[in-house]
Amino acid sequence: MSYRGVIDRYRAYLPVTDKTPVISLCEGNTPLLRASKLAQWIGAGKLNLYLKLEGMNPTGSFKDRGMTLAMSKAVEQKTRAVITASTGNTSASAAAYSARVGVRCIVLIPGGAIALGKLSQAVMHGADVLSIDGNFDDALRLVREISDQYPVTLVNSINPYRIEGQKTASFEIIDELGEAPAYQFMPVGNAGNITAYWKGYLEYQKHGKIRQLPRMMGVQAAGAAPIVRGAPISNPQTIATAIRIGNPASWKQAVAARDESGGGIDTVTDDEIVEAYKALASLEGVFCEPASAASVAGLKKYACLHPDFAASQETVACILTGHGLKDPDRALASVAKPKNVKADLKAILNELKLG
Ligand code: F0G
Repeated sequence: MSYRGVIDRYRAYLPVTDKTPVISLCEGNTPLLRASKLAQWIGAGKLNLYLKLEGMNPTGSFKDRGMTLAMSKAVEQKTRAVITASTGNTSASAAAYSARVGVRCIVLIPGGAIALGKLSQAVMHGADVLSIDGNFDDALRLVREISDQYPVTLVNSINPYRIEGQKTASFEIIDELGEAPAYQFMPVGNAGNITAYWKGYLEYQKHGKIRQLPRMMGVQAAGAAPIVRGAPISNPQTIATAIRIGNPASWKQAVAARDESGGGIDTVTDDEIVEAYKALASLEGVFCEPASAASVAGLKKYACLHPDFAASQETVACILTGHGLKDPDRALASVAKPKNVKADLKAILNELKLG
């Protein structure tokens, strides 16, 4: 039978019944790609390194896994409108699923701080997009207040159905590898996704599908690293706009995932993020957004600090949370611009130096 999305595939593990309408765009079932050249670039050529390509979801990010469930439950509960604060991907996903089922979608975004592709998605899918004079944390505070007072369903990751849907990514990794990776590196912003993956791993362990749990390795941008610093940051800064968050809603759950798994949460600089972003694209043919590349930058930093790990054959998964096409401006700012050449064979051959 053809693939029909994460609710259909993992129904037994999700809080749905026969009465839940399934609102799906066929999300999930994303590739898990071996990346041996990248492992070498990291300085850990023997690692069994995999990339989970979450940018291959229908709206180009992992948010679709949670949104299918949040939206299906919202419609089951007869909601007429959903609301979300977003650094871009949640709004793109919420807008798409809302359009599909015909509910109103309201989005608050930090003004001037979301990537072009994400903004175009929210607008194209017909969401009411309000760009506020404030950052993501301000937007989240406002949408929480609005959803407390008005009949609109909040679809940020504090909505438990978002976490339930997103945990299916752990199931996919295990179903494919036959075990959990020893380490999983992933970007951390509002901290819903690390919460969701850890929940997924724990549930599969409970069902006897794995013997060992992975170490959960979270990565924050150095200028937006409240969990690493141990205090909220009022003015977070990073080129990885998806994770430009100063006061994550699922802070405690992220710390629990880190500590229970024997993992860690560390920072990477914007320069390290861009370096990993370019290496993924040029060495593996994988174009992800900057926030996603933070996972690889975090792995590289960890390997540099831990020579035994770098020399090992451990299985490692890096979660690439969103597609590179989301943020074309950053891509073009990170590499040399195309050269202008006259439309003339000689001039072109002169440039190409083919031999
Ligand atoms: N990677 C990408 C591409 C994201 O869009 C986000 C979060 C994260 C990582 C971090 O995930 O918040 O669960 O820790 N984006 C949210 C949004 C905040 O509004 O799209 P997290």
